[in-house]
Amino acid sequence: MQPVDLVIFFTFLLIVVIVLTTVYAFIGGVPYVPTSRSIARDMVDVARLKGTERVFDLGAGNGRILIEAKRKHPGLTATGIELAPTVWLLGLITIFLSRVKVRFLRGDARKVDLRDADVIFLYLSGGLLGELESKFDIELRPGTVVISHAFRFPRRQPVEVVKLDRWSGKKTVLRYVW
Ligand SMILES: C[S@@+](CC[C@H](N)C(=O)[O-])C[C@H]1O[C@@H](n2cnc3c(N)ncnc32)[C@H](O)[C@@H]1O
Repeated sequence: MQPVDLVIFFTFLLIVVIVLTTVYAFIGGVPYVPTSRSIARDMVDVARLKGTERVFDLGAGNGRILIEAKRKHPGLTATGIELAPTVWLLGLITIFLSRVKVRFLRGDARKVDLRDADVIFLYLSGGLLGELESKFDIELRPGTVVISHAFRFPRRQPVEVVKLDRWSGKKTVLRYVW
């Protein structure tokens, strides 16, 4: 294979990855924007975990929030759900390299069984948050903690709003108790 063929191949691959990621951002209604490591750590702190809970990240991206949660509390059972195949693959690789144990599934957050969830992390917006709010009302056990980066549910009020001042700007982490 000539170097020029390799350049063409990787350019084509990059275009496929970008197109697929964009298509799934439209299907899911939320694009892939990762939470920074420092905010992920703050989200874990705001969850005030005991260390043995079943935690989920719906729309888990590269799995960073769950990786940070497991690093701080190795006894957690962590499950990530990610819709976009390209982002899911990135998450699988990131989790493999981090060497923490996280179950990382490709699927739709709206269709996951959350009845045994203790804590749910989210960085999702728009209509999807409204849909999840209705699903949570039906499915979550009373006392389930939901930690949302930046975005509020349309109807439910947070029990705590944490404002963070970071070099990248002002951030908000919201704590809900169902
Ligand atoms: C803003 S990113 C947040 C990623 C990660 N939670 C973080 O904070 O770094 C939202 C992610 O949700 C995914 N997503 C969108 N709709 C989804 C759905 N219905 N089910 C599962 N994942 C979804 C997107 O592909 C994207 O990776």
